[in-house]
Amino acid sequence: MDQKVRVTFGTKLGIIAATAGSAVGLGNIWRFPSQTAQDGGAIFVFVYLACVAFFGMPIVLAEFILGRAGKANSAGTYRNLAPGKKFHYFGYFAIIAAFLIMGFYMVVSGWTMEYLALSITGELGRTQDFAALFDQLRNSPGTQIFWMVVFMISTAGIVAFGVKKGIELASKLMMPLLLLVMIILCIRAVTLPGAGEGLTYLFAPNPENARSAGARILTDALGQSFFSLSVGMGCLMTYASYFGKDVRLAKTAGTMATLDTSVALLSGVMIFPAAFALTTDPGSMVETLKTGGPGLVFIAIPQLLQSLPAAQLWSIFFFLLLVLASLTSTISLLEVITAFVHEEVRVTLPKPIRLRKSSTENTVLHQEYRIARPFAVTVISAGVIFLGVLCSYSLGADTSLVIFGLNFFDFLDYITAKLMMPIGGIFISLFAGWYLDKKILAAELSNAGTIPLRFFKTYRFILRFVAPVGIAVVLVCGLIG
Ligand code: PHE
Repeated sequence: MDQKVRVTFGTKLGIIAATAGSAVGLGNIWRFPSQTAQDGGAIFVFVYLACVAFFGMPIVLAEFILGRAGKANSAGTYRNLAPGKKFHYFGYFAIIAAFLIMGFYMVVSGWTMEYLALSITGELGRTQDFAALFDQLRNSPGTQIFWMVVFMISTAGIVAFGVKKGIELASKLMMPLLLLVMIILCIRAVTLPGAGEGLTYLFAPNPENARSAGARILTDALGQSFFSLSVGMGCLMTYASYFGKDVRLAKTAGTMATLDTSVALLSGVMIFPAAFALTTDPGSMVETLKTGGPGLVFIAIPQLLQSLPAAQLWSIFFFLLLVLASLTSTISLLEVITAFVHEEVRVTLPKPIRLRKSSTENTVLHQEYRIARPFAVTVISAGVIFLGVLCSYSLGADTSLVIFGLNFFDFLDYITAKLMMPIGGIFISLFAGWYLDKKILAAELSNAGTIPLRFFKTYRFILRFVAPVGIAVVLVCGLIG
């Protein structure tokens, strides 16, 4: 294993940009606001924040601890920390989750590219019927696949350059730009006349919605918080394996979770006031917001943006924001699988060797090779595109791809965010709380005793009991409720 020579991120800013870049994504801008509208406004936000604080954040920290201590991809980390045991199978589970998430995430990322292109060419501004435009895109596999491939190539290009020159540099450039664009759009939204109504809708408790959502709020909030924090499937663990030994893990986890949660709330602040202030029919806008998903970002928002002065500029801003947010997330997803393939998989190839100079005969020896990053990235990307094609067909052109009553796209979204990530979270907290040597846990949290170790007992208690039991209860209640 790479233990001694493992590359590390170069700077603290790079680490924050990369981890927050993974967390901040379509989940924040595309999913959070509509989940909130659907599940009762402030009531959902409250449950969501509780899930972040009690389950999400402690497990983010646990992934950081395991990743830095194990110094490998998500399977190798378990093998290093628990030699001879079978825990690394859980690393495989994480790789599968990353692959499945990428399958549907890439489709939406492709749409963001198409809409950015439509904004730049001005075509979006000439559109009359936004729902029809989006429908047309969903029924044009060719266009979707084209943009998905463009997005995949951009992601792969960054990851192929490796941790420092690829992931870190790209995140450091893109994250500040993303925050800037977001703040500009938020200011624009809240200064629109009539914006207050939207904010009230978003943040005031709406018991009626909450009641009709029932126990589903719990699984929705739990799934949303895990998906948004990128936690529970080895992504942060892989990134943490590139942390230097002076990185303060608890502080980094706190900063990352705060940034992610702030961006989610800010997306609500951007989208809801705009929706309410600019629509002529608040009732139907509420319905569109509630149905969420694609409708929100690709139908409601472009329509709203067009009614602003300098519409073209705002829509370029908005879709650029989406492209950047999703790119910093897709690189983290791809890195989980790439690190695994690069470090774990070996190919044995024949290597002809002439034993004596004078001899004309070759002896064939077999040599083991690692799979180089660029090659690994290419093969994985091809697999992701295949999955993405199935997803995009299942949404529009081919409605026969249905599993358990969900189309393939929604199915992948459901099993990863609502099931695999929380289950992964339970496992990580149990492993870090019960199996991992207490001394390793303490050494990682205190950077080998160089910084004070605070709340250690409480944290370990959360890992051992609060998080695993709480998540299990929420999952079971949500599923049967
Ligand atoms: N957190 C990302 C988002 O909110 C999605 C993601 C999930 C990224 C899991 C990496 C791992 O969009």
